[in-house]
Amino acid sequence: MEKSQYWDDIYKKKDESHQSWFQDRPEKSLEMIGELNLTKTASIIDIGGGESRLVDYLLEEGFTNISLLDISKESLDKTKQRLGTKADVIQLIISDVTTFKPTQKYDLWHDRATFHFLTDIKDVEKYLSIAYDALNVGGSLIISTFNTTGPDKCSGLTISKYSQEDLKKVFGKFFQNTKCIETTHTTPWGTTQDFVYCGFKKIS
Ligand SMILES: C[S@@+](CC[C@H](N)C(=O)[O-])C[C@H]1O[C@@H](n2cnc3c(N)ncnc32)[C@H](O)[C@@H]1O
Repeated sequence: MEKSQYWDDIYKKKDESHQSWFQDRPEKSLEMIGELNLTKTASIIDIGGGESRLVDYLLEEGFTNISLLDISKESLDKTKQRLGTKADVIQLIISDVTTFKPTQKYDLWHDRATFHFLTDIKDVEKYLSIAYDALNVGGSLIISTFNTTGPDKCSGLTISKYSQEDLKKVFGKFFQNTKCIETTHTTPWGTTQDFVYCGFKKIS
């Protein structure tokens, strides 16, 4: 089955608040984005944004240049529906991140729980090179994955787990690390998943 079909089916089957990764408010992402002191016109892309509510809060904070990328058209359609006319100012991009051809540069690349689905080293390399090319010099990257103590699978798919050190090693080839934090996410049915978030900067 095509990856896009797989994800569309997942989004068709369940409402956003019944997905394991659902967050009513993406606290850690918002906290890390807040620390960057971005201007409200900064270009921000959320990779694998799906139905995440991050975009709702960014709009509320006054950000005006937001893009959402996801392999699942279904998820972006649902987000568009939720946002109503507020979605008019957002760029919705249906694409596999490993074949993404950006048409603009970004000041922030944010990814919660998408990168870890790339289990083939070639896809990881493609992701890094696309993210590097897509970011402005001085731009930031926030990446969040399951920690080494987190689950082995997500949405029925095997994922790659990372420690802070692992992420620093993988992304450090292209970017300068600025911080890492560990946190535990509670799923809508009360189980827990250990996550790690790391921030990076493109310095050249
Ligand atoms: C676990 S969900 C996380 C959703 C969102 N980031 C959040 O935190 O609520 C993973 C998302 O990544 C998307 N995805 C998976 N593989 C992808 C790929 N290769 N390219 C783009 N999006 C992908 C899925 O459709 C899904 O929306």
